[in-house]
Amino acid sequence: MAAALQTNTRLNPINLVPGRSLANPSRAPCRVRCAAASPGKKRFNIALLPGDGIGPEVISVAKNVLQQAGSLEGLEFNFQEMPVGGAALDLVGVPLPEESFTAAKQSDAILLGAIGGYKWDNNEKHLRPEMALFYLRRDLKVFANLRPATVLPQLVDASTLKREVAEGVDMMIVRELTGGIYFGEPRGIKTNENGEEVGFNTEFYAAHEIDRIARVAFETARKRRGKLCSVDKANVLDASILWRRRVTALASEYPDVELTHMYVDNAAMQLIRDPKQFDTIVTNNIFGDILSDEASMITGSIGMLPSASLGVSGPGLFEPIHGSAPDIAGQDKANPLATILSAAMLLKYGLGEEKAAKRIEDAVLDTLNKGFRTGDIYSPGNKLVGCKEMGEEVLKSVDSKVTATV
Ligand SMILES: NC(=O)c1ccc[n+]([C@@H]2O[C@H](COP(=O)([O-])OP(=O)(O)OC[C@H]3O[C@@H](n4cnc5c(N)ncnc54)[C@H](O)[C@@H]3O)[C@@H](O)[C@H]2O)c1
Repeated sequence: MAAALQTNTRLNPINLVPGRSLANPSRAPCRVRCAAASPGKKRFNIALLPGDGIGPEVISVAKNVLQQAGSLEGLEFNFQEMPVGGAALDLVGVPLPEESFTAAKQSDAILLGAIGGYKWDNNEKHLRPEMALFYLRRDLKVFANLRPATVLPQLVDASTLKREVAEGVDMMIVRELTGGIYFGEPRGIKTNENGEEVGFNTEFYAAHEIDRIARVAFETARKRRGKLCSVDKANVLDASILWRRRVTALASEYPDVELTHMYVDNAAMQLIRDPKQFDTIVTNNIFGDILSDEASMITGSIGMLPSASLGVSGPGLFEPIHGSAPDIAGQDKANPLATILSAAMLLKYGLGEEKAAKRIEDAVLDTLNKGFRTGDIYSPGNKLVGCKEMGEEVLKSVDSKVTATV
């Protein structure tokens, strides 16, 4: 059987929110700054935001794979590369220059590398590279973050869990990305009446914010194994009580999806105890942040995991879940597969080009089947390669039109 990574995470971007499209497929491809496509070809604008550290290395590899897989399916891309994060701070003194945001906003989809690095660690908060990500997610209104976590048979021994626990894990975490405690007001640090400093944030969710992410999750679960677990802290938090109430109310619209609820502390434990019990998880911003990192480690390496962030309209943001890995930057050691798989998610969820996406997914599996490994997923008996060579091997597999078997 082809690996679960390939297609059972498919999400039809149409009608996730009734009457509206998530990835705006109604929009004609290539609205802006776009040369006419060659006859018989579709043309898309892709904003490339390489960022910092290993970001430029993995983006350059993923760009080639995207271009090749697309061209085999009659797609042409107009790439526009723009600085964000530390690279932008060094160039123009802000983490997200207006030109970079405009290029991203006007594109059909955005592929981002990673942001941050030691050099800027002591910057004031508003001048930290990571603020670029915060602004991008907020201003593109990409409220739904989809993070698949799949243990590939080829990499099961790279997991920190026992083989029998890790084998066969295949879940999708749907994280709310633009609300909750990361954005809620009031927030701040102030001095109280006793003269003591206090720090505070607000967990805030409006009903419509819960409904729209719940719909994405129900739709996602429907196209997978039909199981949705909503994770909250409804025994303590009022915002979670509303969360649970709204998710439960929507369940009647999805009779084919089995809905369960779990408190976040139990979910953190269950992910390690028995991760195979999960199919699709939906949760708020902060719980999703933590649980998706936890789930990623079950799969063996952070260098393998892609993500998609989608809104009601406008371009989606596609990026590996890892950071800029300054410890290995510039050494050709980075695993580019998370970014390559993010390019596959871009094709599937952002552009609705599933065939081209599958070409990439199959090529990644084929490359792993042939034994090519970067350092983070290396085990004896395999062939150790760098970032560039891994990219070249994936390109060869894209060309060979393989159908991977695992
Ligand atoms: N989305 C983002 O851009 C993002 C996410 C997380 C962290 N960051 C930033 O990245 C910087 C470094 O953060 P960190 O060290 O906590 O996290 P990190 O993900 O950059 O690195 C954690 C560890 O994983 C390794 N690693 C990460 N990606 C890899 C890959 N593709 N191939 C092989 N090994 C890989 C690194 O070498 C490191 O040992 C910080 O400035 C942080 O703020 C950015």
